[in-house]
Amino acid sequence: MSVEQRWQQALDQLKQQGRYRSFRRPIGIDFTSNDYLGYGNQTVNEKRLIANPQENSNSQNGNDYSSGSDYSSGSDCSNERANSLSRSGIASRLLRGNHPIWEEVEEMLARFHECEAVLMMNSGYVANEGLIATIMEPGDWVASDELNHACIVDGLRLARCQRYSFRHNDLNHLEAGLKAVTEKKKNDPSEADRAKFIITESLFSMDGDFAPLIEICSLAERYGALVIVDEAHATGCWGKMGRGLIDAAGVRSRILASVHTGGKALGLPGAYIATNSLLKNYLINRCRQLIFTTALPPEIGRWWRDQLVTVQSDDDRRQSLHDRVELFHQLLQKYQIPFLGKSYIVPIILHQDERAVQVANSLQAQGFDVRAIRPPSVPLGTARLRISIHADHTPEQITALAEALNEIIHTV
Ligand SMILES: Cc1ncc(COP(=O)(O)O)c(C=O)c1O
Repeated sequence: MSVEQRWQQALDQLKQQGRYRSFRRPIGIDFTSNDYLGYGNQTVNEKRLIANPQENSNSQNGNDYSSGSDYSSGSDCSNERANSLSRSGIASRLLRGNHPIWEEVEEMLARFHECEAVLMMNSGYVANEGLIATIMEPGDWVASDELNHACIVDGLRLARCQRYSFRHNDLNHLEAGLKAVTEKKKNDPSEADRAKFIITESLFSMDGDFAPLIEICSLAERYGALVIVDEAHATGCWGKMGRGLIDAAGVRSRILASVHTGGKALGLPGAYIATNSLLKNYLINRCRQLIFTTALPPEIGRWWRDQLVTVQSDDDRRQSLHDRVELFHQLLQKYQIPFLGKSYIVPIILHQDERAVQVANSLQAQGFDVRAIRPPSVPLGTARLRISIHADHTPEQITALAEALNEIIHTV
């Protein structure tokens, strides 16, 4: 049975049992949420008006939730309140937390990635953990890059699936695992329902290098595995309109799902999973990290909506980021300071923890907020500086940092 059949069967069964869940908009007077003192239902504008009664509250862009636009089936005063941009999510999305702005944001994001469906999650951590723990079952086989983020590792632990940690970006090691499990499946009928997955970050958070996405997709297709990609560090910065590395590599249709956090380049709280409608519905029905948590506040949804418009059109900022990166890399080469990767995440390996801390402290004393990254965040013996270049660093700041590094690093 394919995983799609597995998910469809589970959803059909829930339907037969009358337990199938889907998002519904808030309707009627709220006897559902956990907003016991009524604070969560106060809108941001109401808060502002209490502080400053002269202020006009009707000044938002796009859908005017604050003035009580009616997105629910009824239209009494309480519905208007439910659809305004309250400060709190007040309940799980499956209860009263499904504010219409989230449907609007999910549709925008699905258009952005040209994928079937998007599901908002409260953070990148729970998006990865929830996705993995929900879809991968004991008996399934999962190849995970050894440098994948802690939330991927924790998701795999929860899933209790068979894990194969392949050497970082090593396609031969990945293929060896795929070959072995495929052979086993061929020879043992009890293995027939075992699903195979490959999971990787697209831009690695501590090494600043890229996963070979096209080659990974080719291997996945050869051995019948499904691919999941964590785009945490790439979303907003690469490809057309900042869609990320999956879309830049043209492999969106070859992967099962991608995870994107707002917490990095997008500058937003929350995260999302981009996938197909079947998997979205399966997650809505089965993902504990979605079902048993309070939805993000609708006001945050407005940030997402506005910020997505900005990010998509902001090619200048993306270009500035890549220009700054090029300048910093050139300066490091000039000063013969070795670094990893080819991106705005610039790791400088100093090996010993003490040395990394010492160099970081010296840079901090000169006004540069550079931190030492030590085990267990990185493997033993690879303590490092992890320098994060931004679009709004000035060339002077970049040059000053490189000069400071040059002075310190060759002496400590
Ligand atoms: C690769 C990667 N994935 C996921 C996450 C988690 O994202 P969030 O901060 O939104 O929980 C991080 C954050 O450090 C990350 O680096």
